[in-house]
Amino acid sequence: MNGLSTPHLLGIRDLTREDIELIFSQADHFKQVINQPIKRVPSLRDITIANLFFENSTRTRLSFELAEKRLSADVINFSASTSSVKKGETLVDTVNNILAMKVDMTVMRHASPGAASFLASRVNSVIVNAGDGTHEHPTQALLDAYSIREQLGSIRGKKVAIVGDIRHSRVALSNIWCLKKLGAEVVLCGPTTLIPKHIESLGVRVSHDLRETLAWCDVANMLRIQLERQEVEVPYFPGLREYSSLFGLDRRLLESLSRKIVIMHPGPINRGVEISSDVADHSQSIILQQVENGVAVRMAVIYLLAQGIKRT
Ligand code: CP
Repeated sequence: MNGLSTPHLLGIRDLTREDIELIFSQADHFKQVINQPIKRVPSLRDITIANLFFENSTRTRLSFELAEKRLSADVINFSASTSSVKKGETLVDTVNNILAMKVDMTVMRHASPGAASFLASRVNSVIVNAGDGTHEHPTQALLDAYSIREQLGSIRGKKVAIVGDIRHSRVALSNIWCLKKLGAEVVLCGPTTLIPKHIESLGVRVSHDLRETLAWCDVANMLRIQLERQEVEVPYFPGLREYSSLFGLDRRLLESLSRKIVIMHPGPINRGVEISSDVADHSQSIILQQVENGVAVRMAVIYLLAQGIKRT
């Protein structure tokens, strides 16, 4: 047993509130570690982890690799674009070949929703979902919630707005599960076409008025428009300029609010679309603190899951 209610991290939906709180308290410890001159602990010296990225990533891939190295695990990295996947090998065959090299844990990003769960049911490895299509991005939601807790002291009762392309966002879905489990109020804000029908069944409210939403919230998490997932004949909105004028956050709007709110973004940012440059770099923006916290939170996730691996 690893202390969590699950042997894998496939999505926030599967976690309990106690799981999330355990991850946060472990991350508090690792945040101290990574702020010391020697940023490494020997905890996972006997564990080997494979990072499998079938989709592009900057933050998540580097953050996982750094977290694993800070825990003294052996790390191997796999990128689909330079692998034998290009020669027709299946996902399960690829992963089983990697596991035959005595790998204990697999971190995977994949374009297909459900890919992490599919793998967990077919291979003998601890699986960590680093983003599966439009489905979930659990470690992003954990680091987002951890960053809100760090800024505001707690999550319960806090008002969080998630703004933008909710339809295509795994970050939005994982954030909704996480924030609701921790007792936050959540409003989703964006154009009608970018908000899934019936999303209120997850216990959130929907708004199409950015100013009203910002006036209500304590935290605004601004999401990128995922143009790469919008391959449709009729576009979801007329153009980026119109989107930006209705749902983009600029300094004038931010500073017209009657109180200070926390600004977040999971990255990558499209400066001048969902967020202006001066808001991204504003003193109320915690975008780089989110990235720093990502390493501590991923260390906590990997450390806890590794406690369930039998050492032979
Ligand atoms: N936030 C996030 O997942 O960023 P990357 O796509 O760069 O990993």
